[in-house]
Amino acid sequence: MTTSFFRGRRLRRSAGLRAMMRETFLRPEDLIMPYFVLEAGDGRGRAPIGAMPGQFQLSVDMLERDVDEAVNAGLRACILFGLPAKKDDLASGAYAEDGVVQTAVRRLKKAFPHLQVLTDVCLCEYFSHGHCGLVTPEGQVQNDATLPILARTALSHARAGADMLAPSDMMDGRVAAIRDALDDNGFTHLPVMSYAVKYASAFYGPFREAADSAPRFGDRKGYQMDPANGREALREAAADEKEGADILMVKPAGPYLDVLRALRETSDLPLAAYQVSGEYALIKAAGMQGWIDETAVMLESLLGIKRAGADLIISYFTAQILLNRLLP
Ligand code: PBG
Repeated sequence: MTTSFFRGRRLRRSAGLRAMMRETFLRPEDLIMPYFVLEAGDGRGRAPIGAMPGQFQLSVDMLERDVDEAVNAGLRACILFGLPAKKDDLASGAYAEDGVVQTAVRRLKKAFPHLQVLTDVCLCEYFSHGHCGLVTPEGQVQNDATLPILARTALSHARAGADMLAPSDMMDGRVAAIRDALDDNGFTHLPVMSYAVKYASAFYGPFREAADSAPRFGDRKGYQMDPANGREALREAAADEKEGADILMVKPAGPYLDVLRALRETSDLPLAAYQVSGEYALIKAAGMQGWIDETAVMLESLLGIKRAGADLIISYFTAQILLNRLLP
C-alpha cells in the first residue's frame, strides 16, 4: 500500500509539530472578567455566590482588592454588574450619579487607568419587579418608554469613566438610543458592545442569584430570544449593527456556537461571546466532584468559543486562569 489514506497523525507526532499546527489561541487580551458590585454601606464586603463557587458579590473596596490582584496577573478588561442597596419602580439606582456601578467605575479607573472597564447596561437589578424594562399595570414590559432610561443609564456610566457600554436588556432600538445619547453629550469616542443575540436561557439561573435580578413575575421570553431560533439571531445582529453597535455579542456561548459561527460569517464586526453563569456552574460543580479535570475542561470550553468565531469572551473563569498562569 502506498498513498491510499490520509495520515493526519504525521502532524501530531510531537509537541513541537503540534504547536506549529495550532490554529486557535487564547490570550489574556481575549478575556473579560465579570464582577458583581455591592452598594456601600450594606455591611457585606464579600459574599460568596452559592451556585457560582469562587465568585463573590464584592463591596467597592473588595472589588478594588480583587481587581488589583487580577491586573497584576494580566487582567485587561472587566465588566461590572451592580447590586443597589434599594430597588424601586423607576430603576433610579441605575442612573444615579453616585450609584454603585458609577462609584465602582470611578474607583477602578482611578486605580487602574489601563484596565478597560465595561459596564452592563440593564435595569433588571434596579427595578423592584426585576424585569429589564418599565412594566405596565397589566404586567407588560414596555419597549419605547424604557429607551430613555437605558440611554440615561449608559450616559451616567460614560460620565463616571466607563470605557465601553454593554446593553443587555433586549429592548428594540436601544443601541440607537444609547448611541444618540452618547454622541449628543460628547462621548462619540465610546464604543457600544451590544448583547445583540441574547437568548431567554435557563443557563442564567446562577446569575440571577448573584445579581439578585430574577423577575418577580413572569419570565423574559417576551424580550429575550427563543433558544430554538438561529435565523432570528442574524436579524437581531443586523439591526444592532445598523443602529451603531461596535461589537456584537452572543449569549450564552457554549450552547450557541452555531449562532456565533453564523454571525462570524455574516458580519465583519468584532464578536464577543458570554460564557454565562450556568456554563460556569456546570464545569465548577463537576470539577469539584472530581468528575472532570476542571482546568482542562475550562480551557477547552473557552478555546471552543474562540474557534467558533469569538474575538472576545466574557467568562467567570478569567481571574482563575490569569491568577494560575494557565495561558502561555
Ligand atoms: C441582565 C443580565 C443577565 C445576564 C447578564 N446580564 C441576566 C438575565 O438576562 O436574566 C446573565 C449572565 C450570566 O448568567 O452569567 N439582564
